[in-house]
Amino acid sequence: MKATIVLLPGDGIGPEVVDEARRVVDDVARLFGHQLRFDEHLIGGASIDAHGTALTDDALAACRAADAILLGAVGGPAWSDPTARVRPEQGLLGLRKALGLWANLRPVRPFPELAACSPLRPELLAGVDVVVVRELTGGLYFGPRIRDVVDGRRRACDTLEYTDVEIARVVALAFRLAEHRRRRVTSIDKANVLESSRLWRQVADEVGARHPEIALDHQLVDSAAMRLITAPASFDVVVTENMFGDILTDEAAVLAGSLGLCPSASIGDGRCGLYEPIHGSAPDIAGRGIANPIGTILSAALLLRHSLGLEREAQAIEGAVAQAIAAGVRTADIAPGPGDAVSTTRMGAEIRNHLHRTRPARDASHYIDNQRSGAW
Ligand code: IPM
Ligand code: MG
Repeated sequence: MKATIVLLPGDGIGPEVVDEARRVVDDVARLFGHQLRFDEHLIGGASIDAHGTALTDDALAACRAADAILLGAVGGPAWSDPTARVRPEQGLLGLRKALGLWANLRPVRPFPELAACSPLRPELLAGVDVVVVRELTGGLYFGPRIRDVVDGRRRACDTLEYTDVEIARVVALAFRLAEHRRRRVTSIDKANVLESSRLWRQVADEVGARHPEIALDHQLVDSAAMRLITAPASFDVVVTENMFGDILTDEAAVLAGSLGLCPSASIGDGRCGLYEPIHGSAPDIAGRGIANPIGTILSAALLLRHSLGLEREAQAIEGAVAQAIAAGVRTADIAPGPGDAVSTTRMGAEIRNHLHRTRPARDASHYIDNQRSGAW
């Protein structure tokens, strides 16, 4: 097949990890006979430095025209002045909103070989296989905001706003996912305090009523945060609003053993999606060649599967990553000691070696291949 993938490496370790993912996708394309074209653009701080804005019209137009987008990370200390008018995150948030990517899927199934990387006891990690569906274009991130001075006091206000339509579509997506998994949806809210959460819960029940074969339970976000690390195997599909999802998915990454391992897919009504690791730009290790590229490489696998419909190719990547991990290849974040760690490029190269040698080695069903039956 022919397809165009926009690459948005962004800031910090973004360019390093996106580079490795591009090489992996290149090799897969060669192996399976596809013509994939890459179109690279700036985003975030890099774009602010070059153009004065975190996302140019050109970059946005390229994304709109693309079959899929692979992003590294945005942000860093150089652009973190709280009084700044232009911020790197505006690029990412603007892109999610402009492309209507209302759901962010973050699958977490720990690799058994990396159980020791997690601070949790190994027996807690057994059987963990969770997908968090995070609402991505509503809530506090996009609600009306105020910054002013009232009676001599500086005041700031963010608004957590949702409509039933926004809630229903993301909850319905969670149910479609659950149909092909363990048939359990946990909707997370703060309905004992927030009006928006009470609407969320009501709409989730309405959607749930159309799926009697799937168990729906509601949990308050505070206790869910606790249960996510005390009984993580009890979750199957989790669905929640934007900010809760942001926080809970960093927490869920602890189950995997490293933030650097976790991929994500941001999707909407169309086929084009935005794929990115869940980690940030990690300015402390940027430029040192030690970042873990696996989160981005697995995001590229999700891209091939969901935006390009290339299931075998996605599985080839996931299999190669699993093989590299099984073979003991470790970047610093998952290595037992500093002497055992390989570089970002070496990890990428090892994964590509396994790509050449193997076909799917590991059951990849924990990723969102069950999405194929969904509407997108
Ligand atoms: C994420 C990130 C972003 C978010 C930031 C960089 C704006 O933390 O993708 O989880 O909060 O959505
Ligand atoms: Mg986050």
